[in-house]
Amino acid sequence: MAGGDCGRMFRLQIPPGRRQNLAAEWNAAVVVAHNRPVLDGPQGRIALRSKGIVVPKVMITKIIPVAFCALLVAAPGQGADAVVLRIKADQVAAHVSPMLYGLMTEEINFSYDGGLYAEMVRNRSFKDDPKEPVHWQLVQEQGGTGTMSLDPGQPFNDAIPTSLKLAVTQAGGRQRVGIANEGFWGIPVKPNTRYRASFYAKAEGFAGPLRIAIVSNDGATVHASAQAPRVTGSWKKYEAILATGQAKPSAENRLVISAGSAGTVWFSMVSLFPPTWNNRPNGNRKDIMQILADMKPAFLRFPGGNYVEGRTIATRFDWKKTIGDISERPGHMNDAWRYWSSDGMGLLEFLEWCEDLHMEPVLAVYAGYSLAGERVAPGADLEPFVEDAIDEIEYATGGAGTTWGARRAKDGHPAPFKLEYVEVGNEDQFDRQTGSYEGRFAQFFDAIKAKYPKLNVVTTARVSGRNSDVLDEHYYRRSEDEMASHAHDYDTRDRAGQKVFVGEWATRVGAPTPNMSGALGDAAWMTGLERNSDLVIMESYAPLFVNVNKGGMQWPTDLIGFDALGSYGSPAYYAQQMFSLHHGDVVLPVTAQGVPTREWQPPAPGGRRGAPGTPTPPPQPAPPPQQVPTLFFDATRDSQAGTIYLKLVNRAGTPQPVRVEISGLSAVEAHGQAITLSASAPDDTNSITEPTKIVPMTTNVEGLGANFTRTFPPYSITVLQMKGK
Ligand code: AHR
Repeated sequence: MAGGDCGRMFRLQIPPGRRQNLAAEWNAAVVVAHNRPVLDGPQGRIALRSKGIVVPKVMITKIIPVAFCALLVAAPGQGADAVVLRIKADQVAAHVSPMLYGLMTEEINFSYDGGLYAEMVRNRSFKDDPKEPVHWQLVQEQGGTGTMSLDPGQPFNDAIPTSLKLAVTQAGGRQRVGIANEGFWGIPVKPNTRYRASFYAKAEGFAGPLRIAIVSNDGATVHASAQAPRVTGSWKKYEAILATGQAKPSAENRLVISAGSAGTVWFSMVSLFPPTWNNRPNGNRKDIMQILADMKPAFLRFPGGNYVEGRTIATRFDWKKTIGDISERPGHMNDAWRYWSSDGMGLLEFLEWCEDLHMEPVLAVYAGYSLAGERVAPGADLEPFVEDAIDEIEYATGGAGTTWGARRAKDGHPAPFKLEYVEVGNEDQFDRQTGSYEGRFAQFFDAIKAKYPKLNVVTTARVSGRNSDVLDEHYYRRSEDEMASHAHDYDTRDRAGQKVFVGEWATRVGAPTPNMSGALGDAAWMTGLERNSDLVIMESYAPLFVNVNKGGMQWPTDLIGFDALGSYGSPAYYAQQMFSLHHGDVVLPVTAQGVPTREWQPPAPGGRRGAPGTPTPPPQPAPPPQQVPTLFFDATRDSQAGTIYLKLVNRAGTPQPVRVEISGLSAVEAHGQAITLSASAPDDTNSITEPTKIVPMTTNVEGLGANFTRTFPPYSITVLQMKGK
C-alpha cells in the first residue's frame, strides 16, 4: 500500500476470528474498519482493545478502490500552517443531486399551530381540552357580568360538536362582557396591518351588536375593532377586517369579542389571520416563509416524523380529515408531541406550501405502525390504509376527472401537483415485530408501483423483499465532534445499493436552536453529504421549527426559532443556507495533507429511543478515544459557468492557513468571493432577542489563483467562490 496514493482508498479487512484483541499498522491515507474510517493519517496504528491485550498484527486482505479522492491525510500534532488542499478541477468525482438540499417538517414544537400556519387564535374550535375553554378568558368590564363555558348542547357541526357559550347577565352603557383569546403566547400586533377576523355565532335573547377587537392585555389600548351589527338564532359566519394604525409592535394583546347588552351567544371557529405569504386565506406567516425561501430548498418531506404515525392508529395523520373548509376539519390530538392539532395545516396546505416555495413534495404516507406499538397486519387489515395512501397520491396528482383530483379542485386547487417521491411510514426500524415492515412495505410498494410506476418509493428501514428506490436514514448526534467523526461515512458506502435520503439529522448542541458548535458539526457532516451526492440524493435537517416560548419546545435543537412577533435562523440554518445556495453540479476530487485533528472521547453506546415496550439497554463501556479532524472540506464546480466552490470548515479555535492548489484549468481568476459564517466562541448563537448575531458575510477576495494560501478564521464555515478558465 502506497502512502498518500491519491484517488484510492484502501480497506483493511480483519480476518474472521480476529475481531477482538487486535491492532493494525498502516500507511494508507484512511483506515477503514467495520466499514467506517477509524483513523486518518499517512502512517499510524489503530488498536481495538479487549481486556487490555493488544495483538500487534492483522492481515490486509483486500484493497478496494472507491469513487472519491477526498481523502484526509491527517497529522495529529502537526503545525497549523502545513495544510495543503489539492483540487483536480478537470475531473468529476460525482454529480451533485439537484434535490440534495431540502426541508423536513412535522407538527412538533408548535411548528404550524403557533408557528408557520398564520392562525393567531389558539383553541379556535374549543377542542384543545374537552373540559375547559383553555386559552380563553371571560371579560367583564366596568361591572358587567356573565359566564363562559363549553356547551356540547349547541354543536356547531359533526366536526366541532362543542361550542363556547357566553351568557351575559349584566351589561349596558360602558359595561361590556365577552370572550378573549390569548393567542399562541400573545396576539401579535404590527403597525398599519390588516388582520382578517372571522367567527361563527348564534344567539338567544340577544340581537347584537358584537364587537370584535384586538386589545392590549391591560385593556388600555384597542388596536383595532369592528362590529357585527346583528346576531340571529342560527349559526352564521361573521367576518371583519381589523386594521391597526401606528401601533408599536407588541404581543401582549388579546382578541376580544364582546357584547354591550344581556343575552346568550354561542361561538365557534373564531379565527384571526395576519397578511399571509401569497395572500392565501388559510396561509402561512410571511416572515417564516421568507426565511425558508432564502434557503431555496429543493423539497419538503412531510408530514413527519412521528407526527405521521401518531402514538396510536387513531391519532395518526389521517389526511382525509385534514382537507376542506377549516370549519369542517375535526383536528386531532397530536399525541406524538402532546398537544392538539387544528389540522389547519392539512394536506392541501402542505402541497401549497411546496408550490409557494418551488419545492417538490416528499409525501410520507401512514404505513400501519404507530409509536406506542400499534400495528396493522399486512394483508386484508392493511388494505384500507394502502387505499388511503393511493387516494392521497391521487389527491395530490390526479386530474379533475379522478375522484380525489376532483376533490382537490373543489378544495380550490384544480391543477395537479408534481409528485415524484412517496415515503412509506417513518422510522419503521422501531417496529421490532419480525417481518412487520417487510410485509407492510411490500403491500404499499406493490400498490403504489402498480398505479404510479414512475413514483420513487422511499423506505424508512432496510427491506429485502422489494427494491425500494431510496432509503431514508436518520442521524441525531450528541456533539460537534461526534457529528464530525461521521463526515466520511458515505465515502466508503457501496454504490451498488439503493440511493440514500438523509431525511433527519442534526448536531444536537444548543437549545432551543443550535449554536455555532452545532453549525460546525453540521457543516463538517454536509461536506460529506455533498461529496457523496451521487449516493446521498437528498438531505434534510430536523426538526425545522421551534416556538421559543416557555412550553413551546418538545425537542431541543431546532433549525429556526420564532415567537408571535418574530423569527430567526440559527447558525445551523445559515450553514444549511450556505450549502444550499453555493454549489456546483459536479464534485471535484480533493486531496489534503496535514489536516489537524483533536482527540474526542466517543460516548458509551446507547439508543436514542428504545422501541416501545423494550427494556433500556444495559450500560456499555466507552469506546477508545478517536482523533477527529478539525478541518473539513469539499469542492464542487458549476460545469457551465466554471465557478469552483470550495467549502472549508475550520472547527478549531485558531486561524487556519491553507494552501490551495488547483490543477486541470488553464487559469483561476485572482478575484473571487468568500462567504463566511464565524463566531468568537463555539457556544455563540442567535436567539429571538439577538436574531442576527451570527450571519454569513460575503466579501470580495483577491489573490486567488491556481496556487494560493488563505487563512480561515477560527470556528468558521467558508464557501470560497473562484472562477476557473
Ligand atoms: O425530529 C424529531 C423526531 O425524531 C421525528 O419525529 C422522528 O422521526 C425522529 O425520531
